[in-house]
Amino acid sequence: MKEFDHYRDGYSQRINQAIAFSGQTQDFYTKVKARCLLEMFSRLRPSVLGSEAASRDAGPPLEALDIGCGQGLIHPYFHPSKANLKLTGIDVAGTVIEEAKAANPHVHYDVYDGEHLPYAGHSFDAAFAIAVMHHVPPANWASFLEEMRRVVRPGGLVAIVEHNPINPLTQWIVKSCPFDENAVLLRSGKLAKLFRGAGLIELERRFIIFTPFDGGFFRQLDDGLSWLPLGAQYCMAARVPS
Ligand SMILES: C[S@@+](CC[C@H](N)C(=O)[O-])C[C@H]1O[C@@H](n2cnc3c(N)ncnc32)[C@H](O)[C@@H]1O
Repeated sequence: MKEFDHYRDGYSQRINQAIAFSGQTQDFYTKVKARCLLEMFSRLRPSVLGSEAASRDAGPPLEALDIGCGQGLIHPYFHPSKANLKLTGIDVAGTVIEEAKAANPHVHYDVYDGEHLPYAGHSFDAAFAIAVMHHVPPANWASFLEEMRRVVRPGGLVAIVEHNPINPLTQWIVKSCPFDENAVLLRSGKLAKLFRGAGLIELERRFIIFTPFDGGFFRQLDDGLSWLPLGAQYCMAARVPS
């Protein structure tokens, strides 16, 4: 579980090696995921994004929890200057959290045992986990989501970003990453069932990263294809019943 402590120094380097063939660095993929999540959050609370986010009238920030946040690589995209968010990050690996703290003074960080989130029920408006569930043993998938649901307020959002096992390139990348040795990938359909089992109501399922290219045209292409279960990753959001 804490294997990421061992990869601390080479984490980004190893990811970049695994995806080098695509001609993009990890930051490109991080940005795509940030955009997807921010759009999902903004459907819950429109003032999270856009000009309102930076204004004084934006209202209270959306309180969001990033579970398995690692080094917090996505957190610069959730800086208060860009989004009306108040962010907490948590991980099982203490050393990566130290790095995240140094890089993102705007975020509060905690370390936990991987099972019981150290927060009271209904503490957040949203909880999300990016590329974490495939490191959680399948026997614990249900309880992982139940913990997410517990800490989110009624009407709030649970969002998961995962590798799409249907995409052959994703399979290949996972096989070439040393810290994915024990990974068990889950299909979006399986996650939908797990959402239902945890009492969550699926709101949105988007497949992302169809091409490794940046820019307006390719962004529109990605958006247009988001229904097609072939993207390299997927982003799913569910609502906690009121
Ligand atoms: C592939 S990394 C993803 C890091 C980050 N979410 C990102 O997208 O850059 C997976 C992370 O999940 C963490 N992790 C593994 N099992 C966990 C669990 N049960 N609860 C929380 N984090 C966990 C690891 O320590 C690692 O930091």
